This record gives sequence, C-alpha cells and structure tokens, in this order.
Amino acid sequence: MSSTLGTIFKVTTFGESHCKGVGAVVDGCPSRIALCEADIQTQLDRRRPGQSRVTTARAEADQVTILSGVENGLTLGTPIGLLVGNKDQRPGDYAELQAIPRPSHADFTYQSKYGIRASSGGGRSSARETIGRVAAGAIAEKYLRETFGTDIVAWVSSVGTVDMTEAVETALTRKQIDASEVRCPDLDAGKKMLEAILAAREENDSLGGIVTCVCCGIPAGWGEPVFDKLEAALAQAMLSIPATKGFEIGSGFAGTRLRGSAHNDRFVLKDGRLGTTTNNSGGVQGGISNGEPIFFRVAFKPPATIGQPQPTVDFDGNEVILEAKGRHDPCVVSRAVPIVEAMAALVLADAALRQKTRL
Ligand SMILES: Cc1cc2nc3c(=O)[nH]c(=O)nc-3n(C[C@H](O)[C@H](O)[C@H](O)COP(=O)(O)O)c2cc1C
Repeated sequence: MSSTLGTIFKVTTFGESHCKGVGAVVDGCPSRIALCEADIQTQLDRRRPGQSRVTTARAEADQVTILSGVENGLTLGTPIGLLVGNKDQRPGDYAELQAIPRPSHADFTYQSKYGIRASSGGGRSSARETIGRVAAGAIAEKYLRETFGTDIVAWVSSVGTVDMTEAVETALTRKQIDASEVRCPDLDAGKKMLEAILAAREENDSLGGIVTCVCCGIPAGWGEPVFDKLEAALAQAMLSIPATKGFEIGSGFAGTRLRGSAHNDRFVLKDGRLGTTTNNSGGVQGGISNGEPIFFRVAFKPPATIGQPQPTVDFDGNEVILEAKGRHDPCVVSRAVPIVEAMAALVLADAALRQKTRL
C-alpha cells in the first residue's frame, strides 16, 4: 500500500493538491496521549507556504481538524482522522500544463503509470500531500517526547553552493532554527542562503539544498534487522518526501575517506551506560539504535517548476517553450524542515512500539 507507512504506528495520507482536502489517518497510536489540534497546528504552520520570503506566495492556511480518535484531549487508541481543507486553489495557474509535462516534475510519470492524472498542481506528487505526514508526525512526536523524552530538530545546512560549517549540534531548539528566515542556525550562512534564494527567484530559477536532522533521547535497541534496519527505514521515509535526491547517516559519504582507526566510535562509560566518544555511526549500528543521537542529512533538488522559458515537448512530442506560471517555491528546504522532522518521528514511533514487543 503505497500511501501507508509503518507497521504498528501506521499512517495513511490522502488527498491531491487541489481536491477538497488533504490529511491522514493514524492507526495504532497508543491510547491516553494528551492531544489537541494546537499540538499539530504548530508544525503545520512551519510547513505552510507564505510564511517567509523564501517560500511560494500561495496563501494556504492549513488549519487541521481532528475528526476522530481523540476525546476530552486524550487519544482513545482508535484511528485518528486528520483533515485540512484546501482553500487557496487556483487550478487556472496550471491550465497550460495539461498538455505539457513539466521537465523533472511528475506529470509524465503519473500519466504513464495511471493513464490519467489530477488535473492541476501535481496531484499526489504535490507538496500538499506532506500535510498529512506533518500532522501525523506531530502525534508521533508527542508520543515519543512524553514517553522517552525524545527531541527531534532539523535545520537547513546548505542552499545551492552556500554551506554552513557543520558541527552536529545536539542542543539546538526549533526556536533557534526559526530565528533564521531560511532555518539555518548559522546566521551568517543563513543570510547568504537567503540572498541566493532571492536572487534565484528574481531570475525565475530555483535552488536545491540539504536538511540535517538530529534525534536525541533514543534508547539503545530500536530498529528491526535486517530489512527494516533503522537507517533503512529512515532512508525510505526521507526519500519518500517530494524533491529528495539523497540520504546519508552519520559520517555518510565523507566517512569513506577515513581509515577505520579514525572512524571507529570507541565505547566509554557515560552516566552508567555504554556510550561512544565519537558518533560516526550516526547513532545506529547493525540497524539498531545505540543510544547516541541519531543524525542524518537529506538532499533536496532545485524544484522543477520555474518561470524561465524552457525548450521541451508536449505530450504529443511537439516542440514548445514552457514558461511556468503560478506560484512556486524557489527552494524547498526551509519548508522541508518540519517534514523531515515528521518523517523521523513516524519512523521512530513505529520502531519504539515494535521494540515493546521484543523485551
Ligand atoms: C515543501 C515542498 C515544496 C515544494 N514546492 C514545489 C514547487 O513549488 N514547485 C515544484 O515544481 N516542486 C515543488 N516541490 C517538489 C515536487 O513536489 C517534486 O519535485 C515533484 O513532485 C517530483 O517528484 P520528485 O522530485 O520526488 O521526483 C516541493 C517539494 C517540497 C518538499
């Protein structure tokens, strides 16, 4: 089932970009977790477009309604239905795209797969689908925080060719991240990123970037070898986010340049438990969490829909020049931050509940 993620904490998202609403059904959430709409709305507001100069100007309010599964502020253990109505629809923005598949978007592949596709805005491939993920992720996060003290924080670590100097920070808060318009905690780098995004937008172009995520407060033992290794589950979840092109955990690709003697994470006694002096493993060994912070990076491509004239062909193969109209994100990483956090929470909540069946 391609719209469902998880084995015990199970989430199904629904909705196309311009249908009446999008959302999720969360099945398997433990009972008696305190939950209200405001718990979910905070993260939806961070995902929403129109919140800063670096996002699309589409004004989507994205107010969530909890339809079921919660009574008197507590989860009942029954399926939680989450709905966000679609309001700022302008299907006219997409009229010309009926006949022309956008280069590097999903129009051609959806049409090839189903022989039909949603009439505007990318349908299921649109970032609006991620509303359901973020709403469900907020519930997973609440469960993790209240039960294990888990803290998940993501930030923008590069935009185009502008990088922040990356020490893996485990003490960052979302408030600190949101102090920067692009969500980069290195404020100097953040300023340069902002300039780069505004310049790309000015030129009707787009930019890619990287989101780094750290998850603290994860006990040793989560993750299911061998096909559901924790890093494999995280990679699948992250690469299911629209516009992602890469995932690396711990030392990642750069780790290939080190020798084992430099790369090994030596064990030491930390507060009465075994910990490690370094964390090149990114908190996961053998597909199982080792109690250190889990950290990983997700690469996002420059979004496909750009206002520049692009020579391409229509569905019949006729040469055309495509100049996309409408309101699009010049760079998606800032809005992707809460989506990455949500996907991490969904994977970790499922891993936590699966571990409960083991010990
Ligand atoms: C938060 C977010 C916002 C996005 N906004 C846009 C956009 O405005 N224009 C666009 O062409 N793609 C946008 N995308 C990416 C497309 O949804 C995605 O590239 C497209 O569906 C093709 O899928 P793929 O890139 O995963 O292959 C966005 C992605 C995310 C995560």
